[in-house]
Amino acid sequence: MVKVLVTGGAGFIGSNFVRWAHRVHPDWHITTLDKLTYAGRLENLKEVMESPRHVFVKGDIADAAIAAPLVKQSNIVVNFAAETHVDRSILSAGEFIQTDIFGTFVLLEAAREAKDLKVFVQISTDEVYGSVATGESTETDELKPRNPYSASKAGADRLAYSYWATYQVPVIITRASNNYGANQFPEKVIPLFITNAIDNIQVPLYGDGLNIRDWLHVEDHCSGVDLLIEKGTPGEVYNIGGGNEVTNIDLTHRILALTGRTDALIKRVADRPGHDRRYCLNTSKLKSLGWAPKAQWESGFAETVQWYRENEWWWRPIKENDPAFREYYKTQYANRAPHA
Ligand code: NAD
Ligand code: DAU
Repeated sequence: MVKVLVTGGAGFIGSNFVRWAHRVHPDWHITTLDKLTYAGRLENLKEVMESPRHVFVKGDIADAAIAAPLVKQSNIVVNFAAETHVDRSILSAGEFIQTDIFGTFVLLEAAREAKDLKVFVQISTDEVYGSVATGESTETDELKPRNPYSASKAGADRLAYSYWATYQVPVIITRASNNYGANQFPEKVIPLFITNAIDNIQVPLYGDGLNIRDWLHVEDHCSGVDLLIEKGTPGEVYNIGGGNEVTNIDLTHRILALTGRTDALIKRVADRPGHDRRYCLNTSKLKSLGWAPKAQWESGFAETVQWYRENEWWWRPIKENDPAFREYYKTQYANRAPHA
């Protein structure tokens, strides 16, 4: 069996990847290492929890006593574990530096001693390029992160590269655009707005609503990572983007239409500090290896809205009963000024 370690595998993309990999690779034994922060949900893994080809370990990637032995026994490591929400990083950056940078360092140190490691995939983000006014970001562009989250991810991204350049750890770095799909924690714009709209609660649109994100279906992200494990070159960076550039106001209109609500639910609120205007990725490097996104934006997005409609059991306890979520929501939105 191929021994695969997936960190952060109880979160949104990590759990989609674990479920994907478990389905398509019957010869993989997957260990999920996750700290189960507020964003980590064991229910995301219920499909694989009983499988003899999967084991779940609760633990912190920054804790070498737990993480290092798991890395050392692996053939493949995929590091999804991170603090991921930009707005939270603006409120308090410490955990982002601790997990996203120091935690990655702990994994990379262990990887130096792994005997049979074929590839260490460091999941980075398109946010490391900073805001891109025109054109597309290519893998050789300068990194210009502009918020504590993206700066932490840029630190991890370059730290991972340094372990290839210095110690020949077989690192591959991926930079994906904004993901959409099932099991995304309802603090991020798509699940937050869908679930608010279902409940007829206002949706807080930041600033003028003209910021652009390039949306990627989470399963297309999984297929890109999977392909790179097979065909990627160590030491290289690969963009993974959906090619679906959408303004936030268009996204909001789409959500309201699909949930049967009107524009009356839109609440224009003060902008996110340092809000990146636009991200856009050039993905020709990954496409040259044979990857292409499968999801069509319109149908993929409609299916995503439908998933949240059909899986209230998944998000309603978080939004209604989780005191940490309610506290966060209050801090972020209760006294937010209106958009000027
Ligand atoms: P998420 O917040 O949904 O999940 C993060 C997971 O990491 C959670 O399960 C959490 O419990 C776990 N975790 C956090 N700190 C940990 C620690 N110290 N040790 C072990 N586990 C820990 O995030 P996501 O949206 O699924 O993002 C996954 C990865 O993909 C991140 O590295 C993120 O930067 C990157 N990424 C996300 C997007 C996106 O659109 N969501 C796009 C590009 C890249
Ligand atoms: O680009 C990749 C990144 O995408 C990932 O690296 C991050 O982990 C992920 O969280 C995501 O970051 P964003 O900041 O782009 O995602 P978020 O869902 O927070 O916001 C998307 C857009 O929606 C952004 O322009 C801000 C806006 N927004 C967001 C929230 C939460 C609003 O207008 N209102 C909101 O309440």
